[in-house]
Amino acid sequence: MRCPDRILAAFALALLTCAGPVLAAADAVRAEAAAKLKSDLPSLAPADYVLGSAAFDAELRSQLAENANAATTSGVLEAGRAAWTRKFKNGRTLASCFPNGGRRIAGAYPQYDARLKRVVTLETAINQCLKTNAEPLLDIDDGKSMGAVTAYVRSLSQNQKVAVRVPAAAEAAFDQGRRLYTTRMGQQNWACASCHVQGAGKRYAGQPLSPAIGQGASSVVIRGGQAVTLQARVRECLERMGVAPFAAGSDELNNLEYYLTYLSNGLALQASPWRAPRATRG
Ligand code: HEC
Repeated sequence: MRCPDRILAAFALALLTCAGPVLAAADAVRAEAAAKLKSDLPSLAPADYVLGSAAFDAELRSQLAENANAATTSGVLEAGRAAWTRKFKNGRTLASCFPNGGRRIAGAYPQYDARLKRVVTLETAINQCLKTNAEPLLDIDDGKSMGAVTAYVRSLSQNQKVAVRVPAAAEAAFDQGRRLYTTRMGQQNWACASCHVQGAGKRYAGQPLSPAIGQGASSVVIRGGQAVTLQARVRECLERMGVAPFAAGSDELNNLEYYLTYLSNGLALQASPWRAPRATRG
């Protein structure tokens, strides 16, 4: 069922009725992760989780501040803007596929699409727009194309609160994402949570480990002057775990991103923050 926009805008109650009930269990899962991080890292304000590694390292924190404009100086934002406004053969643009030209929408992604019965990330939505307009799709792993576009769209939502919605119908997708994050797997028998929940703030391969809450709020990252999409970044961790990485854009990674971003609900979206170059090991 589609609700008319003006009803959505005018009545919060109508919004709830129209969009269907939310999954109460999702909130409980987030509260549990938040409580664990809070008790392990009592001195760290939850708002600072979005700093990632830098939350635990003064040197990294000052580098982050020095490189606050990395997305601009690297040319990533300009490349993304050009792709966002480029005219398709039919005269439309990526911007024309999204409400408000894409302003203040990023915090609501990923979304569960009840008609497709799938999670749609911002990257999937961009590719859906290209497909509808008979344009070639972008590779979700590719920082130069998809990474730049997503970085640009996210810059139109800088500091917007992350507000991912998990309707009851999305239970299976959310649950798969949660299981992928919390289940030990691969040759090393690690779970994502081993490093980013239990290990948050500890050092691994010379870097402090970012907390799970905050990761979904601060993507696409700029590393070595290049945009790195969240799923490309997650695939690096999967490789490190000795898990044959799921394809970017697969339901597995979309569901993982859904869960991970939901954990960041309420945090201020950080569009394309700078990250230190990749460590040689890890
Ligand atoms: C063996 C430890 C380890 C495991 C297991 C691991 N990671 Fe990581 N991850 C790292 C390290 C080290 C970094 C770089 C430092 C940082 O940002 O936390 C990182 C960075 C990240 C980042 C980027 C954070 C940022 O703000 O830049 C994301 C997202 C991420 N990991 C997600 C995952 C997911 C999802 C999984 C499970 C599929 C996972 N990680 C499993 C060690 C790990």
